Amino acid sequence: MERSEESIDQILAKLEKVKDPVRDNYYYYCYQGFWIQEVILKRILSFPIDQFVAQDDDILLTSCPKSGTTWLQSLVFSIVKRNSNSNSNNPLISSNPHDLIHPLELSLNDESKQRIMFTHFPYSALPPSIKHSKCKIIYICRNPLDLFISHWHFVHQILGDVIEPNHLEECFDMFCKGIHAFGPFWEHILGFWKVSLEMPERILFLKYEELKKDNVFFIKKIADFLGFPFSTEEENRGVPKEIEKMCSFENMKNVDVNKTSKHSLGMSNSSFFRKGEIGDWVNYLTPEMAEIGKKLIEEKFGESGLMF
Ligand code: A3P
Repeated sequence: MERSEESIDQILAKLEKVKDPVRDNYYYYCYQGFWIQEVILKRILSFPIDQFVAQDDDILLTSCPKSGTTWLQSLVFSIVKRNSNSNSNNPLISSNPHDLIHPLELSLNDESKQRIMFTHFPYSALPPSIKHSKCKIIYICRNPLDLFISHWHFVHQILGDVIEPNHLEECFDMFCKGIHAFGPFWEHILGFWKVSLEMPERILFLKYEELKKDNVFFIKKIADFLGFPFSTEEENRGVPKEIEKMCSFENMKNVDVNKTSKHSLGMSNSSFFRKGEIGDWVNYLTPEMAEIGKKLIEEKFGESGLMF
């Protein structure tokens, strides 16, 4: 049963909140230990997500927003559904990946087999049933400075604003305090990193940068992890390479549906495809900001062995 607006407002009233530097009268709320924008929290809270019942054959894609979720969605969809679609009727040509792979909260009443879903929830906030099932989880992370710049552009793009440099500093300051969509990023990344080390058969931990370097290797790795390995015959036919090509940034950005249509939540599909590059932060952050960011990354990830 969906929650009423009144009960959502009552939940929000009890939470710590911080004003969004970009939008007037708009707040980030601290919910279950992570920060989340008002509009997204309200949408999530309207569903009784704790009642989500996981199935052992579910596939859950997870990330901090702007880490490469859309790319991961298209790769996993292509790998798992490769025998259902021919090149000419590939659903990725007619639909944005976000319209093929739904968020967890919209899958509550979907009882089909082999569901592929995604969420930006940190591991600590996942519904208990997911943690206790045998479903497979894939996490993608990205250099936090690139994640910040990507998100900063995304917000401005969906707001239709002119990008003002002074907002960049305020937003960066908030980001470094961990106050950003599903932040703090270090808790988000380290949460999944730790469980991926404890349960490598359940959680595959990926990095955007590594996928960029050797996509075919990771396409095969994802396929093996999910239990959909490529046969020798498929490899000889170049199927992994075809998936790489189909899901490449250049191809996905230029598919008509991603150039012209809107996502069901209202933003244009094109907003999910900006530059798709590694290290674009260097074009936006001042040397001082970069120094602060790098120090923070070192401080938060130094002991984990994770490098960005
Ligand atoms: P940039 O803003 O740096 O270009 P998410 O899907 O989690 O919202 O992440 C969006 C980021 O992934 C954007 O980064 C976007 O351009 C990039 N991206 C989207 N599709 C991609 C693809 N097929 N290959 C590589 N990067 C992709």
